[in-house]
Amino acid sequence: MMQTKSKVAALLAIALSVSGAYAHAEEDFVGWLLNFQRQKNVRPVTDKQYQEECGGCHFAYQPGLLPAKSWEVLLNANALRKHFGVNAELDDDTLKVIHDYAVDNAADKSWYKRSRKIAVATEEGPAPLRITELRYISLKHHDIPEKMIKGNKGVKSLSFCDKCHTQAAKGVYDADTVDIPNYPNWDGWFNK
Ligand code: HEC
Ligand code: HEC
Repeated sequence: MMQTKSKVAALLAIALSVSGAYAHAEEDFVGWLLNFQRQKNVRPVTDKQYQEECGGCHFAYQPGLLPAKSWEVLLNANALRKHFGVNAELDDDTLKVIHDYAVDNAADKSWYKRSRKIAVATEEGPAPLRITELRYISLKHHDIPEKMIKGNKGVKSLSFCDKCHTQAAKGVYDADTVDIPNYPNWDGWFNK
């Protein structure tokens, strides 16, 4: 009995000593618990600098849409100079804030359902560099005809999530919040 108790105490001590490192995950867990949409959401962006610097050319993707290993590859000075064919360079201080925010809130550190799915699916293998290339995401959009995406002036690329997902900024990607520009009756056009 004594032995079990001291084992528990030792485990607790270990848990407490590492919990500082997981403070962020705990905060995310509480946010997730209190969020009624937790079954479907990814955590909305809360960092002002990330929102501003990464929301200029496209909508600011929630860090929970990619695993930490992807943000590590994407968010360094060299990679940002050649960011998908454009220069998205940042000064060192800003880069550090944005890098740390993205890594701390990555899919594999989040409790939100879609992030969990992305985390599990990307656990093995190389770091994916695009959200649109994740199997989970590409399968969800498989049936949408090209004319509604690339051929659609109001969208242009599947990368522009917020053109169709009206609540993307809140981290909501449910099919019933989709509105494809120029195709008001989109859900009659292809099979689900
Ligand atoms: C100067 C413009 C610019 C800035 C600033 C910028 N990006 Fe991008 N980003 C792009 C372009 C262009 C693409 C490719 C879009 C496409 O293929 O249609 C892209 C694509 C991406 C993708 C892949 C999207 C997909 O297809 O799944 C991610 C992830 C991304 N950016 C993250 C970021 C982050 C994080 C920041 C902030 C550090 C950032 N971007 C800042 C221009 C920019
Ligand atoms: C051309 C418009 C369009 C763009 C751009 C788009 N989506 Fe979608 N998305 C849809 C449609 C339509 C569906 C629902 C498909 C269906 O019902 O079969 C969907 C479904 C989804 C789903 C599954 C929803 C559910 O309830 O199962 C997720 C997650 C998602 N999209 C995420 C994204 C992300 C992340 C991006 C950007 C990287 C993105 N989408 C870009 C149109 C779009």
